[in-house]
Amino acid sequence: MINQDDEFLGVDKNSGFALRVIILSIPAGLIFLILGLCDILSTPLAALSYICILFFNTVFLMPISTELQQIKKYILSLSSGASEEKELSNLTEKETRDLTAAINSMHKFWVAKTGTLENRTLSDAAVLDTLPDPLMMINQSYNVIGANLAARRLFETDLNGKDIKNFIQDTKFNTTLSKVLNNESKQEELNLCLSTQKEKPKFYVRISTIPWFAKGEIVAVISFYDLHKALQLEQMQQDFVANASHELRTPLSIISGFIETLQTTAKDDEKARDKFLHIMQEQTSYMSALIENLLSLSKIELSINTPPEDKVNINGIIREIKSALEIKLKEHHLELSTRFARLPHIIADEHQITQVLQNLMDNAVKYASDNSVISVITAKINEIPKNRYYEVAEGETVEISISNSGVTISKEDLNRLTERFYRLQEHKNKNIKGTGLGLSIASQIIKRHRGNLIITSENGLTTFKIYLPLKL
Ligand SMILES: Nc1ncnc2c1ncn2[C@@H]1O[C@H](COP(=O)(O)OP(=O)(O)OP(=O)(O)O)[C@@H](O)[C@H]1O
Ligand SMILES: [Mg+2]
Repeated sequence: MINQDDEFLGVDKNSGFALRVIILSIPAGLIFLILGLCDILSTPLAALSYICILFFNTVFLMPISTELQQIKKYILSLSSGASEEKELSNLTEKETRDLTAAINSMHKFWVAKTGTLENRTLSDAAVLDTLPDPLMMINQSYNVIGANLAARRLFETDLNGKDIKNFIQDTKFNTTLSKVLNNESKQEELNLCLSTQKEKPKFYVRISTIPWFAKGEIVAVISFYDLHKALQLEQMQQDFVANASHELRTPLSIISGFIETLQTTAKDDEKARDKFLHIMQEQTSYMSALIENLLSLSKIELSINTPPEDKVNINGIIREIKSALEIKLKEHHLELSTRFARLPHIIADEHQITQVLQNLMDNAVKYASDNSVISVITAKINEIPKNRYYEVAEGETVEISISNSGVTISKEDLNRLTERFYRLQEHKNKNIKGTGLGLSIASQIIKRHRGNLIITSENGLTTFKIYLPLKL
């Protein structure tokens, strides 16, 4: 910054202005000296003439110098981030006016360019933030130069400028990173377990160098792929196959046991034969229900990414299911009361929605205590309650509540009710038949429709609330 004390008449004292005036006046000074020595001019007149020359040179150079001084201040203020100033419009010299115009146009150009670059940097950062997998950029000194949102979330901190070794203390990772940073390898991959994490997720990590033409300070990019989810999915599939085969093996072994008994010990026992055949029939229908449900589940999984297109009348479906359940209701002395709101048709998969309502109303009848009332109520509400695992649809929605009295289901059991093959011990003990797949089918279908299923159980009253959006 220029200090006011360093100026004289608007000219910087250190600018060499006086020297320049003196140097410019030397030729004239020499002429006056010679004229004086040759007695052509008297010494006082020669000195006076020289002083006049000095004065005119000063007057001539002063405006340019002061205006250059102003321009210097102006450039300094622009470079310190100030926007263009209008003060410089009072310049009198053409050269300084042209110079200022050139500076202004250069400034405008750089401001525009910086704006474009800033926007691009922001949008690049936003794009990186949308990536589901953590990603970070490292410089030669192992410092993090940039990290996307997933990476910041993973390490629960702002990583910028910090040493990567503070976050990942894994010897294999560090030696691999050194290899890449020291240019011994262009890309390295390894499995990494972050011990700082509560659930110990396992990552597949890729460390790659940046191509030379894109290099700034960044030397390497580290991307993390969550193996935890993939391993969990694999485990779930293995469990599912194991459970399904176990569920099928049990009735099969019962049937083959009875066949053997009928062929040997009970060969001529008519009474035992009838009893065994009845059990065998029960087991076969259980097996066919199981196979049907398993096929249903795999069909729903196939349809999960296809948006449904049917126009579905929810109240109509409930009425049909109710009349199909009449016999069972009578058998258990149950009453099924319905209260319908005026509902528009919803856009959904008619077959699948029928399956959901059938499974839930069937459950209500199956698990209600005898001589009680089951209630089914429909309503139109404004939004679907949030789901922890997926994003529900927005906008108006149909709510179907199905309640029955019976056991109070504990919180732990409520959380596991939609798991495949999960059944309450009370119902297994009472020998109520079921595959344990009905609710998991229903919840998968509801997920496909981006709706929600909320189950509550209090004072012996269990309520299943199904939310289905009017349209997806
Ligand atoms: N309305 C309900 N009241 C009380 N418990 C219920 C109710 N609905 C389901 N359950 C419990 O949840 C378990 C799982 O239900 P789900 O419908 O998935 O299987 P299921 O009824 O046993 O067999 P499936 O539906 O294949 O015949 C049931 O076994 C039962 O213990
Ligand atoms: Mg069921």
